[in-house]
Amino acid sequence: MNPTISIAVILTVLQAAHCQKIKELSACLLGQNLRVDCRYENKTANPLTYEFSMFKDNRKHVIQTTLSVPENTLKARSDVTLSKDLLCLQLFDFTTADEGTYICELKITGDYTGNQIKNITVIKDKLEKCAGISLLIQNTSWLLLLLLSLPLLQAVDFVSL
Ligand SMILES: *[C@@H]1O[C@H](CO)[C@@H](O)[C@H](O)[C@H]1NC(C)=O
Ligand SMILES: *[C@@H]1O[C@H](CO)[C@@H](O)[C@H](O)[C@H]1NC(C)=O
Ligand SMILES: *[C@@H]1O[C@H](CO)[C@@H](O)[C@H](O)[C@H]1NC(C)=O
Repeated sequence: MNPTISIAVILTVLQAAHCQKIKELSACLLGQNLRVDCRYENKTANPLTYEFSMFKDNRKHVIQTTLSVPENTLKARSDVTLSKDLLCLQLFDFTTADEGTYICELKITGDYTGNQIKNITVIKDKLEKCAGISLLIQNTSWLLLLLLSLPLLQAVDFVSL
């Protein structure tokens, strides 16, 4: 039995229940790329504006944004996907030179009073690999999630025998 995996699954479930406007900012390694997930509360169909930036050497580097002007070199190496509840940044060919504090800032006029902002410190050696399952979890009901994780936990027990 590998308790780490079981706990990780349970923690993911618990984090999903945590409620704020930017609910969670997390980072993981997807192959050679860095993925930063900015989960937010989507209340209405009001337009969303955002900014992904990175703070390094006392300077803010804007990566992808609808609020200001990004740095071209960073913009060219990155991609943003927007879905309900999730803003996802990918930075391609991530190296230790890209380590720093990553910032997700959101503005939905009419939904939130001020800008929503959260940051996360990214160090390559400390990054987890992105779990394939986390993409599936995004639009999965609690019941389905529970049903999915039970056999997973059993499989984990079985494999480690
Ligand atoms: C947020 O949810 C509304 C419906 O509640 C939907 O119309 C809108 O497209 C969603 N926003 C995003 C960015 O997906
Ligand atoms: C990150 O967030 C913390 C707490 O909100 C804040 O004190 C800190 O200044 C932020 N760092 C950057 C680089 O924005
Ligand atoms: C999840 O997906 C189903 C269809 O597969 C859709 O009917 C439902 O509205 C979605 N729920 C959310 C919260 O996006």
